[in-house]
Amino acid sequence: MDDRGMTLTRRSLLGVAGAAAASSLAACSWTPRSESAEGPSNAVDANVEAEQQVSVDDGFVAVTGGTFLMGSPEDEPWRSADETQHEVAVSSFFIDPYEVTQADYARLMGDNPSVNQGDTLPVENVTWLQAVEYCNARSAEAGLTPAYEIDGDAVSWDRAADGYRLPTEAEWEYACRAGTTTPFNTETSISPDTEANYYGTYPYEIEDNYFDCGALQTQPGIYRQTEVESGTFAPNAWGLYDMHGNVAEWVWDLYGAYDEEASADPVGPEEGALRVNRGGGWNDFAKNLRSAYRASLAPDASSPSVGFRVARGALAGASLVGGAAGAQGAAGGDGIIVFFSWSGNTRDIAGQIAERIGFEAVELELVEPYSTDYSTVLDQAQADQAAQARPELATHIDMDRFGTVLLGYPNWWASIPMPIASFLESADFSGKLICPFCSHGGGRLGQSVTAISKLVPTARVGEALSVHYGGDSELPGQIDAWLAANGVA
Ligand SMILES: Cc1cc2nc3c(=O)[nH]c(=O)nc-3n(C[C@H](O)[C@H](O)[C@H](O)COP(=O)(O)O)c2cc1C
Repeated sequence: MDDRGMTLTRRSLLGVAGAAAASSLAACSWTPRSESAEGPSNAVDANVEAEQQVSVDDGFVAVTGGTFLMGSPEDEPWRSADETQHEVAVSSFFIDPYEVTQADYARLMGDNPSVNQGDTLPVENVTWLQAVEYCNARSAEAGLTPAYEIDGDAVSWDRAADGYRLPTEAEWEYACRAGTTTPFNTETSISPDTEANYYGTYPYEIEDNYFDCGALQTQPGIYRQTEVESGTFAPNAWGLYDMHGNVAEWVWDLYGAYDEEASADPVGPEEGALRVNRGGGWNDFAKNLRSAYRASLAPDASSPSVGFRVARGALAGASLVGGAAGAQGAAGGDGIIVFFSWSGNTRDIAGQIAERIGFEAVELELVEPYSTDYSTVLDQAQADQAAQARPELATHIDMDRFGTVLLGYPNWWASIPMPIASFLESADFSGKLICPFCSHGGGRLGQSVTAISKLVPTARVGEALSVHYGGDSELPGQIDAWLAANGVA
């Protein structure tokens, strides 16, 4: 590690000192959990066929269908290009006001994969595939028709089935917004202290106000570093808790560009390698909690800040959707370590990995390097991220012979540094195995794995290793476990 690295490791991005409009389109009724013994009002009207109405005592909220603008307006701060705003009609459906708890999950599935254990906490570290399996198990228990046909990692959704299921991405956003058109259902900012559980050191628009928080609507606040009991904060206008933060929530859809023509009950693209999750989690910056923000991971990937909530209700125009398999087969070819590092920590970790696995380690250097001054690079990195810039690389690697890439980078503003995007767009990564390793100052992986997955959807993004700054004496063991989990020996 060089001197700059030593200096930076003592600094922390964590220490920033000082630093529902009613809808005319839809209405909604909801049943608090405490009243569920009397049974919810299953009075969803209109598009849910009468014969598909099943009396189930599960306390779900009945969301009445309507039309809304899905996505974000072009002037919404920190929007992404994949949030193209378009009109969508959603049929009526039922949705759980709470995220699925660890006790709920363990009771049906026999184990609890969560990293932060607690019966009443939302389950996390579940894959999308585990979430759909849970839905089917819950349908079987309730005597409902399972929504999914599951054959290994190929999953089809029988839209005529009345069983439990994940909401579609459109249903999720419709339910989250509850009639609002603002970045959050709490309007233009969201408080980490009183409104949602997230990486509260980084409220909305902190990026542009990092050294002077005076202009922020919400000041930096609590970072709890774990999920909390679902229902800790007030629900949105339709009675749904934790649509922003706590754990991000898997939805049905494969990730891809919105089909603006498919405006009635869209179910996502027919093909793709990633499944969407929404709402952001306890480890996310506020910008990634926005109602329109779209995260995505491979269906067999998991994260300690991603869980799910369950919906129910058949859709009109019943048909079978999906069947796409998720991850691809094992990668052939040689392995290489490729990394970007600003102050040396990632370089140091890459060196330790190289010692253990014997792969060549190649550092990505830029034609125009970032400033060596800390506050200047914060601004530069933030501007690059906002513009989705692709800084020109001075390092060129012939990737053809490599099947496995151990890809290292520092967490920058809760995601990848843009040179990593430049690298991932410099070659064809189809079928290759990419194993991320991320050095961070407390934000762990942030949205970096989502960012990588979106950039190379035809690659297989393996398990990621997150290392606090340069790591400690446990790092060699952590590296070995990470390599083993990815099948890289
Ligand atoms: C521009 C910039 C942005 C950063 N953003 C974050 C962040 O969002 N979350 C975090 O945990 N650490 C953040 N950090 C801290 C770095 O991730 C951390 O210091 C890392 O160890 C640096 O790795 P490197 O020495 O390889 O550059 C940031 C550092 C810089 C310079």
